Parts: sequence; structure tokens; C-alpha cells
Amino acid sequence: MRAKIVAGNWKMNKTLQETEALLAELSAMLPDSQAEVIVAPTFVNLQAAQAALQGSTIQVAAQNMHFAENGAYTGEISADMLLSLGVDIVILGHSERRAYFGEDDALLAKKVKTAIAKGMKTIFCFGEELEERKSDKHFEVVESQLKNALSDLDADAWKQVILAYEPVWAIGTGETASPEQAQEMHAFIRKTIAGAYNSTVADNVSILYGGSVKPGNAAEIFSKPDVDGGLIGGASLVASDFVEIIKGI
Ligand code: 13P
Repeated sequence: MRAKIVAGNWKMNKTLQETEALLAELSAMLPDSQAEVIVAPTFVNLQAAQAALQGSTIQVAAQNMHFAENGAYTGEISADMLLSLGVDIVILGHSERRAYFGEDDALLAKKVKTAIAKGMKTIFCFGEELEERKSDKHFEVVESQLKNALSDLDADAWKQVILAYEPVWAIGTGETASPEQAQEMHAFIRKTIAGAYNSTVADNVSILYGGSVKPGNAAEIFSKPDVDGGLIGGASLVASDFVEIIKGI
């Protein structure tokens, strides 16, 4: 049975003190849930987050990492650095990394390969832009994003992969994919993976939806059979909202 997951991508938000305060609040309010709960604070606050969550079931993820083992890459963070803090989950391929920092499928393929080789779990993000959906290219775009970045993985490596379908037009816009649109795309993604590998790999991979998930729409989106949870941006920054979303699983 694949895992249900609710992950909060905090993006470039929350100072150290704010991180500690939000995690304290979240821990105090955390409901009993069948969902795995993950938070991804900024790099500089990962260590504090780990410390604040000792003994908690909430897991900590990084928002990005470099593909190289180490070396002259000023400002970058390696897998080993994350692992040395006990952080073994990393978000890769977020549309903001693609749009603002020029990360393309080829680079992401290298990052995913490193993360898998290091034993990390990868939350791999992808999704079409508005123009692509309007011109009915969304399935094609998603298929190529998956193929270009993930086709080198063997079936076993998929145990370390969590997918996050995030249509770019729904991120931070308040516009959400309808539950039907999410289900349609998630089913397509699962079918694509079944075709490339087999139905066991496809059935076992968790596919999260991301893009303006809020307390008011989470439960309906999560009720769809191929939606295994969410990757939450803005609403993960408010403990009560994030908790309501977790309850939607
Ligand atoms: P919002 O929930 O703010 O739309 O962001 C979604 C997202 O980008 C999560 O990675």
C-alpha cells in the first residue's frame, strides 16, 4: 500500500525564531492521521527543525540540493551535508527552481540520481504551465518531464521516489486544479509509470498534488483515488491551516 503524505514546502519563508515557533505550534496541534507529515524549511533552519522535532513523527526535508559529491560550487549544498543533519528527504524539480534558477530536466536527472544513490527520498516536482494546458499539451509535457528526469531509475529506486504534480498555473495563484483535473492527471502519471516499469512500481508510488491546496479544498482533492496527498506551499506556513489540510487525508 502506498503512503499518504502531506508535505509543507516553506519556500523562502520563516526565520530561525519563526521556524521554531511554527514547529512548536504544529507539534502541539498535530492530529492523529494516517498521513506521513513532512516539512521543508530553508537550508539554514534544517538543523533547528530537526532539533525541534526530536521524538516527533513529523519529518524534515530540504528544498533542493546539488548533484555533486562536493567541490567548488559556491553557495551549494550536498547530499552528504543534508544526511549529516539527519535530513534524508529532498524536494527536487520545483517549478520555482525551474523558472527562476534555470533548472532543466537534464540537471534534475543528475540531482535525482545523486539523491537515490545516497539513499535519500526524493519528492520530485513537475507540472505544466498555463499555456501548455490551454493548448492541450499538459499530458505530453508531464510525460516528457517524467521521462527526461526519471527514466534512468531502475524499478527498485522508485521506492525512494515521491511524485508531486504541481501545475504551474495553480501555484500561489489561488486557482486550484479541480479534483477531477488532479485525478485525471494522476491516473495518467500512474499509467505512464506502469507502462515504463510495471504495475507494482506504479501502484506503490505516492503521487501528491500541489497548487493552492487550502483547508477548504484539501479533503475533496485527497478523496480522489490516485491523489495520495499534497505538497502545500502558502497554507503550510500557518499551523492551523496545515493541520486542517492533514485532517483532509
Ligand atoms: P501553494 O500551495 O502556495 O500554491 O504552493 C504550492 C507549491 O508550490 C508547493 O511546492
